[in-house]
Amino acid sequence: MFAHDLLAGKVIVVTGGGTGLGRSMALRFAELGARVAVLGRRPEPLAEVVQAIAAGGGDALAINADVRDAARVNAAVEEVLAHFGAIHVLVNNAAGNFLALTETLSPNAFNAVVGIVLNGTFHCTSAVGKHMIARGTGGCILNIVATYAWTGAAYVVPSVCAKAGVLAMTRALAVEWGRYRIRLNAIAPGPFPTEGAWSRLMLPGMDEEGRRRNPTGRFGDPTELANLAAYLVSDAAGYINGECVTIDGGEWLMGQSFNALTLLPPEQFQAMVAALRPPKPSA
Ligand code: HXC
Repeated sequence: MFAHDLLAGKVIVVTGGGTGLGRSMALRFAELGARVAVLGRRPEPLAEVVQAIAAGGGDALAINADVRDAARVNAAVEEVLAHFGAIHVLVNNAAGNFLALTETLSPNAFNAVVGIVLNGTFHCTSAVGKHMIARGTGGCILNIVATYAWTGAAYVVPSVCAKAGVLAMTRALAVEWGRYRIRLNAIAPGPFPTEGAWSRLMLPGMDEEGRRRNPTGRFGDPTELANLAAYLVSDAAGYINGECVTIDGGEWLMGQSFNALTLLPPEQFQAMVAALRPPKPSA
């Protein structure tokens, strides 16, 4: 789909790049010619991604850091700059989440998720943004949010609040940093089965139900998200700024009136609609 050197010459930092969607994006970016720094809390998955990229002939760097720690993020950005010389793209992908009755949440539990998703995104954006502004050659920041940033969702209130904040930050900085030719965009993924998300968010039965209520009848494939991310961070998307692209098979629209009727077989729908129609007046 893409020229093999679409991202050649770019240095891309992916937070949470050791596992899940972050890993998929890091591998795809490297395949398309980027040099990639994967940032995360656990060294083992990061090392595995670096190895996989090296095995494919790419160039990658593992950076151990918790995005909640602003000082550590600043130091991490310096490490990437010392190694690669510049950062052209930042992908804020690191996330934390769990299901809970909101009335049972401690302040610390709320902070654990908001600290990673909202504060962490700010720490990374601020550190990399300052570098991009000082270098004066523009750049691109891509934030991974969720469709519930605008609908809300039960039982994931800390994540909902944090993702909504990240979406607002995306749009605010798209305008504020436009003068520096820094583009900010977001991707709102629907259900993509990854170990991190599924182990924390999938209750028994939800898996099958999730597929059933998706208009496409399936979950997303991480390569589909990675390709969208590759496009958005590439120069081909140079005029896309402040946008949030949903990639969920149309799942978030299902809540609208009448859409649940698509879960019925067409014959059953037709029969029910026919029964509603008043009989034709006889001539
Ligand atoms: C209630 C919980 C909890 C749970 C933790 N806490 N898990 N409360 N239910 N299941 C509380 C703890 O009791 C503690 O509060 C506080 O949160 C901090 O917990 P720690 O375990 O010390 O935090 P930490 O080790 O920093 O872990 C952070 C985490 C964890 C967010 C809790 O889940 C994590 O590291 N996740 C990273 C990966 C991840 O979640 N990936 C999924 C993203 S999926 P007290 O008061 O006891 O001290 C995603 C997709 C959304 O975002 C879109 C779907 C469509």
